[in-house]
Amino acid sequence: MKPLWKIDSALPLGTPFESGRHHDVIIVGAGLTGLSTAVMLTRAGLDVAVLEAGKIAELATGGNTGKLSLLQGKRLAEIRQHHPSALVRAYVDANREGMDWLTSFADTAGVPYTWRTDHSYAQTPEGLETVREQHAAAREAGLPTRMLSPGDLASTPFPVSGGVALDDQVTIDPVTVTAALAREFLEQGGTLHTGIRVTGAHALPSVRVETADGPLFADQIVLATGSPILDRGLYFSKISGMRSYCVSFRVPGEVPTSTFLSVDSPSRSIRPVSAADGPGGTAQLIVGGNGHPVGRSDGETAAIDDLVAWTVQHFPGAEETHRWSAQDYQSHNQIPFVGALPRGLGAIRVATGYAKWGLSNAPAAALRLTAEILGTNWRDRSPWMNALGTRLTVPADLAKAASEGVKVGAAAVSGWLDAEKRPVPVAQPEEGQGVVANRGGLPVGISTVDGVTRAVSAVCSHLGGVLDWNDAECTWDCPLHASRFAADGTRIEGPALKDLKSLPRTGGGN
Ligand SMILES: Cc1cc2nc3c(=O)[nH]c(=O)nc-3n(C[C@H](O)[C@H](O)[C@H](O)COP(=O)(O)OP(=O)(O)OC[C@H]3O[C@@H](n4cnc5c(N)ncnc54)[C@H](O)[C@@H]3O)c2cc1C
Ligand code: FES
Repeated sequence: MKPLWKIDSALPLGTPFESGRHHDVIIVGAGLTGLSTAVMLTRAGLDVAVLEAGKIAELATGGNTGKLSLLQGKRLAEIRQHHPSALVRAYVDANREGMDWLTSFADTAGVPYTWRTDHSYAQTPEGLETVREQHAAAREAGLPTRMLSPGDLASTPFPVSGGVALDDQVTIDPVTVTAALAREFLEQGGTLHTGIRVTGAHALPSVRVETADGPLFADQIVLATGSPILDRGLYFSKISGMRSYCVSFRVPGEVPTSTFLSVDSPSRSIRPVSAADGPGGTAQLIVGGNGHPVGRSDGETAAIDDLVAWTVQHFPGAEETHRWSAQDYQSHNQIPFVGALPRGLGAIRVATGYAKWGLSNAPAAALRLTAEILGTNWRDRSPWMNALGTRLTVPADLAKAASEGVKVGAAAVSGWLDAEKRPVPVAQPEEGQGVVANRGGLPVGISTVDGVTRAVSAVCSHLGGVLDWNDAECTWDCPLHASRFAADGTRIEGPALKDLKSLPRTGGGN
């Protein structure tokens, strides 16, 4: 599993770590949120350090489809169902400012991109009502969307019952633009530490982050880690982690020149690739979709194979070049969480909940975080910051949170019950497979990857969810709050901070 996008191999890996150093601002996470915030703060003259557990753009940023659009599938209709039209307008304004910031950064940095028409479309007549709702919400928010009939879309090689279009949206290589952010940040004197995992962040007695290599101190901390890594604020219970899949193809015939996202299930995202917005010589088309809550899937590999079968059916002769998956977080109240962490004394901030629309939401969050940190009078300067900053919880949000809570509770119980049903010894899993078994009353995860069979505790190091084997990534995924771990137990992402305990391969019978 490898994305189509390639990181610039000439990019410096970072700066040597000096334990105990003080910076004006420490940012945890070198995805789009962390690096766009870092660039904005550095341009304002602040001393900024970015700490990244892995590499630049390693997670959601490096796995995204590269659509920079204000139309966003059925997002606006979903927000409108929960909130007044003024809030949808504020959300669109925020995204427009985020999009403008990123495209003007790309212009300055020499990162190419392509203007394209974006479509939200229905695959069947049942989806048309959602298309109409999306059009109405977009129009209310001031976007010049156009309703299209099946006749208008007759040339699409896949089934379309109707759609809504928005012209002048963008496709861009998400990794090239993130690498360019990193380059500017370093050129401006920023400090970047890759391969350093933050294991704690505190406001008292001094503002600091903890790492295995020692602490670093700051006046302000930004957690740009996808799901916030601190449980304070209980964000893990207010967002859902959604995993989704992408496959890129070499296609012998024509591909659409526009982008498409279905509003109905199974979701289908269609994105052409050219030399100006990706490695167009390698692949000409990306097809994405089949998303599901992290750790709650009947088969991750099957989800990708289904995308491949769909593409080959509608684009005969399409040849797969890359397949990958990633996850992003959706807030139960539909609006991203951006701002100060509760009980963080105004020194710790978070940004998450972009619902797979981070190319515009992340720079918008960065603009807001930067304004707050610089002490700019942002409430007056920007009506959208003010509107999105004073979120109201409405009954629909509480209902969504309650229904998600029930699913999390059910997943928590079923994980333990399923494990109990399968006592050790169990047969050694085949290559690429993993199984949760019950050893002495505790779930143990046994997997075989690259010929090595390992056993780890299958109990999530966050709050005890029983993990599920992801057969596409060969990882242990948590169905409760979306933490993920490698087969050897190393933490990859999510609210968990610790690795899984490694267990002897045999013990108590297996
Ligand atoms: C399949 C898919 C397709 C998408 N397509 C699009 C699209 O076409 N258009 C669009 O606008 N958006 C898209 N998105 C959404 C977009 O990719 C994300 O919203 C965005 O990348 C989030 O950026 P981020 O920086 O907040 O998070 P991330 O990119 O996940 O970055 C977080 C970083 O924090 C680091 N980190 C985490 N914990 C620690 C720790 N303890 N210590 C140190 N570092 C840590 C991680 O290693 C990671 O690099 C897509 C998402 C998915 C999943
Ligand atoms: S991520 Fe919370 S229990 Fe696993």
